[in-house]
Amino acid sequence: MTDTCTEAPSTYAASAEFAAQANATADLYDHANRDRLGFWAAQADRLSWQTPFSQVLDFSDAPFAKWFVDGRLNVAYNCVDRHVEAGLGERVAIHWEGEPVGDRRTITYGELYTDVCRAANALTGLGLRAGDRVAIYMPMVPEAVVAMLACARLGVMHSVVFAGYSAAALKARIDDAEAKLVITTDGQYRRGQAVPLKESVDEAISAGTDASTVEHVLVVRRTGIETPWSEGRDVWWHDVVNSASPEHTPEAFDSEHPLFLLYTSGTTGKPKGIIHTSGGYLTQTAYTHHYVFDIKPETDVYWCTADIGWITGHSYVVYGPLANGATQVLYEGTPASPDEHRHFEIIEKYGVTIYYTAPTLVRTFMKWGRDIADAHNLSSLRLLGTVGEPINPEAWRWYRDVFGANETPIVDTWWQTETGAAMISPLPGVTVCKPGSATRPLPGISARVVDDNGNLIEPSPELGEHASGYLVLDAPWPSMLRGIWGDQDRFRETYWSRFAEQGWYFAGDGARYDLDGNIWVLGRIDDVMNVSGHRISTAEVESALVGHSHVAEAAVVGASDEHTGQAIIAFVILQADSADGGKHMVDELRAEVAREISPIARPKEIHVVPELPKTRSGKIMRRLLRDVAEGRELGDTSTLLDPAVFEAIRNAR
Ligand code: WT7
Repeated sequence: MTDTCTEAPSTYAASAEFAAQANATADLYDHANRDRLGFWAAQADRLSWQTPFSQVLDFSDAPFAKWFVDGRLNVAYNCVDRHVEAGLGERVAIHWEGEPVGDRRTITYGELYTDVCRAANALTGLGLRAGDRVAIYMPMVPEAVVAMLACARLGVMHSVVFAGYSAAALKARIDDAEAKLVITTDGQYRRGQAVPLKESVDEAISAGTDASTVEHVLVVRRTGIETPWSEGRDVWWHDVVNSASPEHTPEAFDSEHPLFLLYTSGTTGKPKGIIHTSGGYLTQTAYTHHYVFDIKPETDVYWCTADIGWITGHSYVVYGPLANGATQVLYEGTPASPDEHRHFEIIEKYGVTIYYTAPTLVRTFMKWGRDIADAHNLSSLRLLGTVGEPINPEAWRWYRDVFGANETPIVDTWWQTETGAAMISPLPGVTVCKPGSATRPLPGISARVVDDNGNLIEPSPELGEHASGYLVLDAPWPSMLRGIWGDQDRFRETYWSRFAEQGWYFAGDGARYDLDGNIWVLGRIDDVMNVSGHRISTAEVESALVGHSHVAEAAVVGASDEHTGQAIIAFVILQADSADGGKHMVDELRAEVAREISPIARPKEIHVVPELPKTRSGKIMRRLLRDVAEGRELGDTSTLLDPAVFEAIRNAR
């Protein structure tokens, strides 16, 4: 259809063949609109409940929701045991591909069952009980998935910390959750090199003045590199897990039993521990995985490229696909290791049919050029997905053309750590896709775009397509967060205070409608940046910068960047007695942020400036700094204390 047109089409319907075999049908919307709670009850029936729920939703204590009230289930049983009981023990759960070429393992559901039982028994042996917290700080190895499921099986909450995070970031998360156990690996492979990982755990536990809550460190041997060892505290996975019993009877927990904590950036420097619970979370991840990814567990090979350190890895590597008995690829390394062909080789080798990734990676592939992709047979692919940030239409079309042979549907899924599962997305085979738009709320989900007063910004020819507003979720959903660990005031304040009167959840994103009623998510409107799909708060980076002895003040903004969506740009004022702001200092500060937070938070640019633009009340005007960073004419400077500061800032750049 595109070949004959000079202009790229603005809408893409799925082929008749795809629609005919699709899991989703348009009547899902009708069912959900007619009887929302009945619809969700039907979705909950995908799971195996030990005790059925007596009520779908209790929102009487809003914003604290209870979904599937009185129901009891075991999440790990639903992800593993029940498939084995159904005779699917021989089905591959995970095709694991290590970073070193040739390093691979195939794990069936039967094997996964044994591994999870052994790990659960080992955790019990280490003193873990339901309600305890375990930090998981691991690369993408099968044991990481096993560790998460073993925690779930015991009703122990996991807090997965991305293995690219620093010791300081890990420490903050261990301390906030008061974790009793850390599960890690000796080292990890990074671009062909084995680098230490457990060292950071040791550093995190011993740093600070207070005694750590950590009683044991459970270590998977991954690289064999030398590892510091604390007798009595540290234990090898192969010692305690491999020798544990392969039998374990799962206990059923309340539907609202907490499943995990996942820390994410907010508008302050302190990360928030987002709480997710069991029945609702698993219902919505399984439901969305079934329909949005059109999964046919008997034949599909699914690959979500996200790391388990992010919510996408939780919901669409671990819980959703495993609840649905899917076969998936788990890849340990980076896309360019050993060279740019790696992802395409994996797709070809395993016959991947569904591929879900981030727009930033699509843009990286574009930069590498289509010759790389074209060197491979990608004809197994039948559905593509994106998540994490808006995808520019050009990248969308390239993705469909090069990965999808100009044929496959693309599901652009909008959601957040807080929502737990996909919320706004096309249903493949049903929805007519528009490149750049996540289209509509999924059946059972309700969202709207509103102005400051909560009035709907209706798509209308008069308003055109340019009126934008705030994205809100105006009805509770099963996988919604249940709060912020240890700070429920912050939970109310962050998400529920802006539209308190209406009782709506404020997502923090700007959005608009098009004339067809599709939603276009425009990006964060708060002080949260989105760099390559990673959420980083300006305050977190600022606090890492001012932590440096030479920095007096810092202001950080996200400036739009062609490649990473946004790029981190920092403006710093140095201490009076410190050396000049030469390149050496800038390099040192960039390294400091990478050390303090993670390399993903390393500012792209740091400008040493004599002053920062402030309002009379002392608030830094980031909006103006963004104008400077993006090379724009200055916006309204009327509230600025000293408009002349920009002269100085411009000169300093
Ligand atoms: C923020 C949430 C959901 C897992 C990955 C990120 C942005 C996410 C989209 C999309 C436009 C998107 C939003 C959102 N975002 N998906 N399809 N289109 N923007 O999870 O780290 O919690 O970040 O990512 O700004 O608020 P997260």
